[in-house]
Amino acid sequence: MSLQQPLTTKLAGFGASIFAEMTALAVETGSINLGQGFPDYNGPVEVLNTAQSEIASGNNQYPPGVGQSNLRAAIAEHQKRFWGLTYDPDSEVLVTMGATEALAGALLGILNDGDEVIVFEPLFDTYAGCVALAGGTLSPVTLRPQSSGRYGFDPTELRAAVTSRTRIILLNSPHNPTGMVFNAEELQQVADVAIEHDLIVISDEVYEHLVFDNLTHTPIASLPGMRERTITISSGGKSFNTTGWKIGWACAPASLLHATRMAKQLFTFAGGTPFQSAIAAGLRLPDTYFVNLAADLQSKRDILMDALMAADLQPIRPEGTYFITADIRHRWPHRDALDFCRALPSACGVVAIPGSVLYDPRHAHEGTHLVRFAFCKQIETMQSASEKLRNWK
Ligand SMILES: Cc1ncc(COP(=O)(O)O)c(C=O)c1O
Repeated sequence: MSLQQPLTTKLAGFGASIFAEMTALAVETGSINLGQGFPDYNGPVEVLNTAQSEIASGNNQYPPGVGQSNLRAAIAEHQKRFWGLTYDPDSEVLVTMGATEALAGALLGILNDGDEVIVFEPLFDTYAGCVALAGGTLSPVTLRPQSSGRYGFDPTELRAAVTSRTRIILLNSPHNPTGMVFNAEELQQVADVAIEHDLIVISDEVYEHLVFDNLTHTPIASLPGMRERTITISSGGKSFNTTGWKIGWACAPASLLHATRMAKQLFTFAGGTPFQSAIAAGLRLPDTYFVNLAADLQSKRDILMDALMAADLQPIRPEGTYFITADIRHRWPHRDALDFCRALPSACGVVAIPGSVLYDPRHAHEGTHLVRFAFCKQIETMQSASEKLRNWK
């Protein structure tokens, strides 16, 4: 038996996922799990039926490495129909196993050792691990609640984060976990920095259709001078309640996409054949589907917002996504978010995720008072979570 330390030093310091601990606590205490961000309800019947008939008709072997042509065409149509962006389905669209593989492919395909990636924190946990594996380092810019009641960033911090080693800005809007939807001014600030310093932007837009209060999502690639330097990434998981299918994509000019594809082909090469046609059907659903999807989630957001306020956990109103962050300091003045999340299931019957784990370790203090709750659950589940929070003494 080998006595070597098997884990690459690049992943030293990355601990076991907090999601596993909190899910185990939910099971142990019989609590409602608002920790994990996946819907507990099915997607549209057109999408589910297409997958079933594709399987039944024998479409079960490897798809082309770049993805099936009907899905690549549907992705290009979707980018045009919703965001006015034109991509050639043959040379500028790549199908991946979830947005995660597109992100990993882009980071591993582009970064050299020592390159720096600007990210907005708190951040989706995959980013830090992929940047580390690619030999890069993170330069975090912190999003903080503003007096306006929404999150924002300080543009001088963004400018200060750029060094001679910066290659990429990794943007995520609508943003997990804050629910912030970057507005026109904020997107322009990011675009200005990218253009001025000749940076590539990787734009993770998996929550593109989950935006509330009549706000709109704007892909950064649609800003002047940005299409040529942006890899736009999304997936069908959040838009069609099919997170377990892992059908994602990247859209970019051919040379940028080539770098992503070179790395991506080494992971899965390709997969999910019957689900690719099903997601193509989803992307072609009428506008009403997408409007109703957001409206339904908005009503669940409102249930949870009211309950968190009633529990004196000061929520920061999200503009999109599946998540609400709450400032626990009023209710929990002396202890941190991790203690809070470990205590909440037995005390109240609800599970959440501590914000501190979603920051770069150097900045974990920024999130010690923040907790993330998901509201992408059936209305009955949200109502009983609300009751538990309201009755929590
Ligand atoms: C911001 C963000 N990006 C990417 C993903 C992963 O997407 P996929 O399941 O398509 O890989 C998630 C999932 O939670 C996410 O929140």
